[in-house]
Amino acid sequence: MQIILIISLIGVSAYGQKELCNSSLSVDITNGEKIDGKILKNRVSYNASNYFEMNGMIYGCPCNFKTCITKCCEMGEVMINRTCTKSNLKMKIPIHRKYDFLHHIHVENDTFNKEDYFFIQNRCKSSVQLDPNIYPETDKFFVQENGSLYTPDFEMGTPKFSERYCVDIFQDESIDGKLLALLCVPDDMNKDIYEQLEDGIHITGQ
Ligand SMILES: *[C@@H]1O[C@H](CO)[C@@H](O)[C@H](O)[C@H]1NC(C)=O
Ligand SMILES: *[C@@H]1O[C@H](CO)[C@@H](O)[C@H](O)[C@H]1NC(C)=O
Ligand SMILES: *[C@@H]1O[C@H](CO)[C@@H](O)[C@H](O)[C@H]1NC(C)=O
Ligand SMILES: *[C@@H]1O[C@H](CO)[C@@H](O)[C@H](O)[C@H]1NC(C)=O
Ligand SMILES: *[C@@H]1O[C@H](CO)[C@@H](O)[C@H](O)[C@H]1NC(C)=O
Repeated sequence: MQIILIISLIGVSAYGQKELCNSSLSVDITNGEKIDGKILKNRVSYNASNYFEMNGMIYGCPCNFKTCITKCCEMGEVMINRTCTKSNLKMKIPIHRKYDFLHHIHVENDTFNKEDYFFIQNRCKSSVQLDPNIYPETDKFFVQENGSLYTPDFEMGTPKFSERYCVDIFQDESIDGKLLALLCVPDDMNKDIYEQLEDGIHITGQ
């Protein structure tokens, strides 16, 4: 709801303050702690270059100074039965340089300061689920050091490195708590065509 509101107001800030990042990369820090012109929220400190006010709300731009990894659900939630659900499941995200494994990020310790990563929550309107456990020929994905998702075997005109994705732990009757990725379907591409182009990939709405 908030996101939709921001998009519709791009460039028309009520306080004449410029948006310092894309609305899809901003987080609500309105109730953060204000200290010396900075705002502290979830142990991240936003200075004047990294937050802006709009319609009485304050938005921070964590991706201006941290590497953002897109998580499908909010921090503290994972995808259970296709719904974001509160959970204390531990999450370990492997970070790669192309295929090469570099290190894990432990999401349980929220990493906000430690490793200069920030988990931003975002889901695309329509997405394909990548599950390398079931479709190893097409669905391999590697979260990169700069936060993009590398999909070496995924064809159909999508970038090999995508910023339009999210990862999370998925758990339902067929998936037992694994880290999977959803890749956003490009806005200009029909979901059915997308599906035909890539055999075996299941589309998830929302
Ligand atoms: C925000 O991101 C969207 C999607 O990536 C893009 O289409 C849009 O141009 C961006 N807006 C700005 C102001 O950068
Ligand atoms: C705000 O923080 C960023 C990142 O830490 C830094 O590069 C920048 O110089 C700071 N800007 C101001 C005005 O303090
Ligand atoms: C998820 O679905 C399964 C099977 O439909 C059910 O047994 C389980 O309780 C559900 N879990 C949650 C958290 O809703
Ligand atoms: C999380 O942080 C606590 C306290 O700093 C530490 O003892 C624990 O080993 C950390 N867990 C992981 C998985 O890094
Ligand atoms: C991340 O790195 C890849 C490969 O070097 C590059 O293609 C991509 O544009 C980068 N993404 C960002 C957000 O910098």
